[in-house]
Amino acid sequence: MTQHLTIVEHPLVQHKLTLMRQKETSTAVFRQLLREISQFLAYEVTRSLPMTTRPIETPLTEMDAPVLAGRKLALISILRAGNGLLDGMLELIPSARVGFIGLYRDEATLQPVRYYFKVPDMLEQRLSIVVDPMLATGNSSAAAITMLKEAGARDLRFLCLLAAPEGVARMREAHPDVPIVTAALDERLDDKGYILPGLGDAGDRMFGTK
Ligand code: URA
Repeated sequence: MTQHLTIVEHPLVQHKLTLMRQKETSTAVFRQLLREISQFLAYEVTRSLPMTTRPIETPLTEMDAPVLAGRKLALISILRAGNGLLDGMLELIPSARVGFIGLYRDEATLQPVRYYFKVPDMLEQRLSIVVDPMLATGNSSAAAITMLKEAGARDLRFLCLLAAPEGVARMREAHPDVPIVTAALDERLDDKGYILPGLGDAGDRMFGTK
């Protein structure tokens, strides 16, 4: 991917996103819509995966047929909301390896602190797709990507449902080599760090917590 920010403007994605934004949308429907949109986003983020060919036999003849090249890719979910994108993506890419990163914000320093980190091996040989629905300040996403680079990842992409301009700018500054794929670029953050107009707290809406 060459572009730093790709917005998936497909009409079905935009329609489903509007349903997700509406406050009366139930937890069950929100979760289902997220699963559906994640598959469109996965389609876009994997568009330029390297390919090779393999000799196969159809019932009629032989051919060299296209297949994905290289190691299985790694999907890295930032807990907990990333898991809402992960499920749908795994349906499309069932052999992907999966990692999880848990971060919380230290109230004194306001910096993201890692409480969980478990990722696939040989990251230096895999494409890693980091998933988190909301790119808000970008602090936790940027920190997660730094941790993955320290663990060896070289080829990374970031996939989210909604992005704020502040988060995109933070990512561009910290990780200009990491393309971002999203369904929408919203207006701004509010003073609590929520995306406006946004959809509220993605984790709470998908898991039914408050
Ligand atoms: N995280 C969320 O879940 N929602 C926002 O609006 C910002 C961060």
